[in-house]
Amino acid sequence: MSVKPIFFAIDGKSIDEFEFELKRLEGHIYGIKVGLELFISEGPSVVEKLKKQGWKVFLDLKLHDIPNTVRESTKSVANLGADFLTIHIASDIEALIEASNNKGNTLQILGVSSALTSRAMTNSVSEEINKEFKQAKECGVDGVICPASEISKTKEIFNLIVTPGIRLKNDDKNDQKNVATPNFAINEGAKYIVMGRSIRNNLDYIINDLEL
Ligand code: C5P
Repeated sequence: MSVKPIFFAIDGKSIDEFEFELKRLEGHIYGIKVGLELFISEGPSVVEKLKKQGWKVFLDLKLHDIPNTVRESTKSVANLGADFLTIHIASDIEALIEASNNKGNTLQILGVSSALTSRAMTNSVSEEINKEFKQAKECGVDGVICPASEISKTKEIFNLIVTPGIRLKNDDKNDQKNVATPNFAINEGAKYIVMGRSIRNNLDYIINDLEL
């Protein structure tokens, strides 16, 4: 059984809402993404719970703050045992350097562009993202959250590319504007993809049929 390079985004108020999916997905996908909604409701113990179940944990807190706050928050996240943490590249150079220098040995820092996948892609947005990613690289960030349309350019900067906004062909796009299928994103060069609603709507297909 091969582990698919997918993070399941568990966006909700309680980890219990996802108990069924978490059990079924064990051994089939790489890790779990915890966003602000769940982290705020459940608190830091959610990381511990998921780590105990053997998951890689991606804490999507999208830090955006002054260098001191980013540094100390990064240290706290590293102490929790999370594996990945997101930080807004727009936090500025010093904050990104502080995060990179204080993440410890196991946490990896992912830079987030100000252009999220809920924003439509244009040439100028694409240029903005590319500029931000180059800046993130110079600050020692490990990887980036990258829309599918920008993966081919971003491969020249980062190996660790994580792509959200993933939908199967017949899925509803919901609030996402910049979407792609799992195979497109992986074939373009994403190391991991993030899937939330699309996993919940197609659980059996993801487990049994999706080949990446
Ligand atoms: O349900 P869906 O697959 O659209 O969920 C996508 C997840 O990825 C959400 O948790 C969202 O917060 C996150 N995300 C995103 N776009 C980014 C960064 C994170 O959709 N640029």
